[in-house]
Amino acid sequence: MTTTHILLLHGPNLNLLGTREPEVYGSMTLDDINDACRDHVKSQKVELRIQQSNHEGELIDMLHISRNWADGVVFNPGAYTHTSVALRDAISAINLPVVEVHLSNIHARESFRQNSLLAPVCIGQISGFGWRSYLLGLTALLGHLGRLSAGA
Ligand code: DQA
Repeated sequence: MTTTHILLLHGPNLNLLGTREPEVYGSMTLDDINDACRDHVKSQKVELRIQQSNHEGELIDMLHISRNWADGVVFNPGAYTHTSVALRDAISAINLPVVEVHLSNIHARESFRQNSLLAPVCIGQISGFGWRSYLLGLTALLGHLGRLSAGA
């Protein structure tokens, strides 16, 4: 089987995980989550590239660049989920499958978080399973790409 290239992209404030509102987002740091993600795909032929930015334009650039190397993207856009037409346009433009993930259940939170401008241009959204949302997102993307090995 050929190697599957995945961009795991984290948006604003996610660099502070571990200390940031642990009652909402859990106690794992971003490094812990990234390690869990690497571990999750280690039995698959996957190359995971992991990036984080607090800047909308940088996230857009990272998505544009991923067009040249990635088969798909797992993306936690943080608060830009609810505000960014520019990120929505970037996702539409790159023509890659993108899975939107959230640690918290955005549908059970403040009303301004309940709408995602990005979900309609993603292949799906996973929300509310803490750090495991990322693992579910990776599995969903690999399944979508037809690259899940037997038993995974
Ligand atoms: C989040 C949910 C967003 O509403 C929030 O702004 C975040 C994190 C999540 O993972 O639950 O920064 O994307």
